[in-house]
Amino acid sequence: MSDIEINSILTETRLFEPPANFTANARLKMAELETLHQQADSDYEGFWAQQANALLDWHTPFSKTLDDSNAPHYQWFNDGTMNVSYNCIDRHLATQAAKTAIIFEGENGDTRHISYQQLHDEVCAFANALKAQGIKKGDRVVIYMPMVAEAVIAMQACARIGAIHSVVFGGFSAESLRDRIEDAGAVMLITADGGTRGGKIVELKQAADKALSKGCSSIQHVIVLKRSGHDIAMQAGRDIWWHDAIADQPSSCEPEWVNAEHPLFLLYTSGSTGKPKGIQHASAGYLLNAMTTNLWVFDLQDNDIFWCTADVGWITGHTYVAYGPLAAGATVVMYEGSPMVPDGGRFWKMCEQHKVSIFYTAPTAIRALMKLGDDLPAAYDLSSLRLLGTVGEPINPEAWMWYHRVIGRQRCPIVDTWWQTETGAIVISPVPGVTATKPGSCTLPLPGMDVAVVNEAGDPITRANTGGYLVIKKPWPSMVRTVWNDNQRYIDTYYAKFGGKYYLAGDSARCDEDGYFWIMGRIDDVLNVSGHRLGTMEVESALVANDAVVEAAVVGRPDELKGEAIVAFVICKGERPAGEAASAMVQALRNWVGEQIGAIAKPDEIRFADGLPKTRSGKIMRRLLRDIAANKAITSDTSTLENEHVVAQLQGKV
Ligand code: PRX
Repeated sequence: MSDIEINSILTETRLFEPPANFTANARLKMAELETLHQQADSDYEGFWAQQANALLDWHTPFSKTLDDSNAPHYQWFNDGTMNVSYNCIDRHLATQAAKTAIIFEGENGDTRHISYQQLHDEVCAFANALKAQGIKKGDRVVIYMPMVAEAVIAMQACARIGAIHSVVFGGFSAESLRDRIEDAGAVMLITADGGTRGGKIVELKQAADKALSKGCSSIQHVIVLKRSGHDIAMQAGRDIWWHDAIADQPSSCEPEWVNAEHPLFLLYTSGSTGKPKGIQHASAGYLLNAMTTNLWVFDLQDNDIFWCTADVGWITGHTYVAYGPLAAGATVVMYEGSPMVPDGGRFWKMCEQHKVSIFYTAPTAIRALMKLGDDLPAAYDLSSLRLLGTVGEPINPEAWMWYHRVIGRQRCPIVDTWWQTETGAIVISPVPGVTATKPGSCTLPLPGMDVAVVNEAGDPITRANTGGYLVIKKPWPSMVRTVWNDNQRYIDTYYAKFGGKYYLAGDSARCDEDGYFWIMGRIDDVLNVSGHRLGTMEVESALVANDAVVEAAVVGRPDELKGEAIVAFVICKGERPAGEAASAMVQALRNWVGEQIGAIAKPDEIRFADGLPKTRSGKIMRRLLRDIAANKAITSDTSTLENEHVVAQLQGKV
């Protein structure tokens, strides 16, 4: 048995059939779902062509569905032209201009309802403002904003004029922002004075100024939204307030009709080595799967209120806040702040107040709220909810059951959705009116998604419950197109392993007797902290960039709340820190990493030693470090260890 073929010990036998009343009103019932699968199986391209024609509005129709002549650079619908913003907004105006597109709530409780007409007007005015600042089709625009409606308006405005946005999560530090601006060669930065989270101001403009103080020479202008209202510095000639930028702009703006393959956005995500990768998505294919999945998985219907709690800084906030639901003409909820303000009932209070019918969040949030007990959710009327979803990491069955029982009140199906920044949209998920669910399984691939678990040789694993590599065998419309500035990295990361045949997801998975997929974790050194991917390498680079540090290795340790906690093994210059000096160094290094990357990357634990456990060929023994971090008995063979004495140090025994 090869390394990857791990026998699973987790057995979950509970099965939850879709509630009959949900199925009765669902968009997809068994027959419709089967038809979609059959169409995709018998005529793959014809199936996607039909979906693209039915769900998107084209300026000029496409004649070729899939061009695979330059694989693995696949092109979809490329001789067609369209505009994403037009598809998300304008096409709804004839029938539902007054319908609410976005319900925004700030942490302080301020709310705003934005209709499709208002959204149109604001997006157009801002698109005109971008043009007035010299932004053209193909320019890169970095968006570094709080979770406010204007973030979506900025994204939509870029899409409208064919500019390529790159949203950088507002929790990232100035250094991370700088790296992303420089890699993208962005000419504009859109930010805010500050956001509010956990009762504190997030100093976005200050961080932006710091990022721009060194390098970033491509940036010509910075547009600043007034949100927190506190004093900030504005640099004359470079910085302009959002309200001034739009002041004289008309509320209409002809969309830029772009080819289907025109890049819509870049989104940086962690890999196991090197710096974050600029995942590049195309326009039409991305929007198509954003729509299909909103319809199939979230069963979006006319009167739904859809709340996906993800920040727009992540792919989930792109596909299930800023684009997909709007393309489907739905109403979305956006919340600026922390789920714990003023207390852990905030989500449930908002569900009651805004009559949320579909609620989509991450397992880490569910676990954190579960810990607070059943009383908080019990205090609110959650009867508007009809469907629940999760994303970002495997959900443990206990958290699934709590979500089902306490939030869904045993009435709501749960869709555990597997996908990635690179897939653009959900790939494996229950279809809520059809699929019986099992706590902890993302169940079955959606129509048109050809997913398999294969062994080292790339052959399908047929034995039930045997782990292997999760791969996608056929290209799909919303797939990553390339890694910005580093095409070779795209090929190496996703297509090299199986000789260009399959897309390698980087996860291990197994299928059970019913063919249900169970995600087992990453196969590379990528951590999953609170549902967000972080490269161990990024944290290690940040640590060694500190003057006091000589060498560092970072691994994940299973964590009840966050999925994975970050454990760093650090070698310092001079004496190994001990006692108070060690505590002070831990504090200093945690803050340092926070500054270099962002708070989510701060190691939860730092251990010091005189060296790292290495093989005679000089490779760090990561598996051994993982055992040590988890305080497990050491199972790795340590006989090849160059420096065996450091193991005891790292275990904290000496
Ligand atoms: O390991 C898988 C995990 O999150 C990774 C993708 O991370 P990211 O690109 O940041 O996107 C997260 C939101 C789509 C995957 O490779 N993951 C995501 N969803 C699930 C999951 N693991 C298990 N179950 C899921 N439902």
